[in-house]
Amino acid sequence: MLENGKLYIGTSRNPDDSLNKPEYLELKFGNRHGIVTGATGTGKTVTLQVLAESFSNAGVPVFCADIKGDLSGIAAMGEAKDWVTKRAELIGFNDFAFQEFPVIFWDLYGEKGHRVRSTIAEMGPLLLSRLMDASEAQEGVLNIAFKIADQGGLPLMDLKDLQALLNYMGEHATELSTQFGLISKSSVGSLQRGLLVLEQQGAEHFFGEPALKISDIMRTTNDGRGAISVLAADKLMMNPRLYATFLLWLLSELFEELPEVGDPDKPKLVFFFDEAHLLFNDAPKVLIERVEQVVRLIRSKGVGVYFVTQNPLDVPETILAQLGNRVQHALRAYTPREQKAVKTAADTFRPNPAFDCATAITTLGTGEALVSTLQDKGIPSMVERTLVRPPSGRVGPLSDSERQAVINVSPVAGLYDKDLDRESAYEILTERARKAAEAEAAKRAAEEQASQGAGDDSAAGRWTLPGFGNDGEDEAPRSTSRNGTTRRSSGYQRETVIEAAMKSAARSVATSVGRALVRGILGSLRR
Ligand SMILES: Nc1ncnc2c1ncn2[C@@H]1O[C@H](COP(=O)(O)OP(=O)(O)OP(=O)(O)O)[C@@H](O)[C@H]1O
Ligand SMILES: [Mg+2]
Repeated sequence: MLENGKLYIGTSRNPDDSLNKPEYLELKFGNRHGIVTGATGTGKTVTLQVLAESFSNAGVPVFCADIKGDLSGIAAMGEAKDWVTKRAELIGFNDFAFQEFPVIFWDLYGEKGHRVRSTIAEMGPLLLSRLMDASEAQEGVLNIAFKIADQGGLPLMDLKDLQALLNYMGEHATELSTQFGLISKSSVGSLQRGLLVLEQQGAEHFFGEPALKISDIMRTTNDGRGAISVLAADKLMMNPRLYATFLLWLLSELFEELPEVGDPDKPKLVFFFDEAHLLFNDAPKVLIERVEQVVRLIRSKGVGVYFVTQNPLDVPETILAQLGNRVQHALRAYTPREQKAVKTAADTFRPNPAFDCATAITTLGTGEALVSTLQDKGIPSMVERTLVRPPSGRVGPLSDSERQAVINVSPVAGLYDKDLDRESAYEILTERARKAAEAEAAKRAAEEQASQGAGDDSAAGRWTLPGFGNDGEDEAPRSTSRNGTTRRSSGYQRETVIEAAMKSAARSVATSVGRALVRGILGSLRR
């Protein structure tokens, strides 16, 4: 049953319940995405585990979230539970063996796995707006903030940096509005309050450095198995928007960072989106369109995205249409909405004349599913009623000490566990301010020299800055710039350092001097 290039999902049955044939997911179509759906308790997590294990054995790294803690057992050898051995027997799975899998645990809070962080700059305005549930006006202000920061080279690492920038924008709303478009003070205020709420919800743990490197979730072991990254999400689920935004950010990073590979013989990474409804629940239309675009395009980077959710109606139709590999567990059909979901689910399959899809969906047993995968030339297979194979790893949670043991020997142990001990954003801002003040002084000195040299000629580019008249600066600009501090009292020194950095950033945007950062479809940084 274990064949090269194919992942064994389970064995299908004929209408008389006799065994039909093994059902496979073709590795070469693993990047054509998929979906696992079904009512609660019907076997979705077990199916996810089966797929993750099989991808790992095939050398494909996997990223998945562990919503209830019951996926962590995948790191341990399976146990001969009654239902496990029974299922293996029922489907005649003779090659079945227990196995433990190479797992890397991650946790935004750093409690049940290695810390995962991103910087505000990397997340970008679109996802941050989503995270903050920002109104249109607030999103406009955030866009301006990122424009100032990106093009002015102002590093936004964590929530405090963004707070500082918003403060500045609020205080100079009138001047900045003429340059960048309307900045309403009340929107700035709401965003600032929004940031405080995020901080209280623990999002501050997530923003900072060292930021997650994509290569660390794409590791393989020496014996050629793909690492399974398991994100502890039980606590994270208390803040569903952070959960959804984080996964979108990760998807967006993968998309921006990975090279085009066309259609590889197997995926470079498989990404499971559990509780996928949280991504789309009252998400603005533009975000859904962008996600749709990323899902469509990320396939040629060798990334397979698998949505896991209770109801197929949770996934927007444009995205649903792109999901080639489908596992549909049982659904209930009491209410009209439930009946609609059953019909939608049934309609997405290539029909099998042997049975009625909609009826089958409501009568499937636990751990049984309608399965259709892409076969030769990418054509979906005829849907089959399939008994899903049992997983080889343990089903259920690890104990705390087992988890800790896995964390201790992880290949990323020590890489993310401490906040990066280098200059803080504040220091970077301070340094920028110092340089800005220096550059300004140098420029003025140079201009003075030029104007003295050129006499009273109307040389192009000669100008005076109002409010910064001659204050007797006469030494060469180089001696100023070699020195770490500015000595003279000038207009710039009266400003706070941060304010000066902001001002300098805003100015370089206004004059397009800065090296602009480029943002991708979901707004994260392009490299
Ligand atoms: N392939 C299978 N073969 C036999 N039994 C299974 C199989 N899959 C699941 N089961 C049984 O169903 C139980 C619940 O499965 P699982 O946790 O995967 O459901 P779920 O759909 O993820 O539920 P929830 O929506 O509550 O998370 C398992 O503990 C197991 O007893
Ligand atoms: Mg589950």
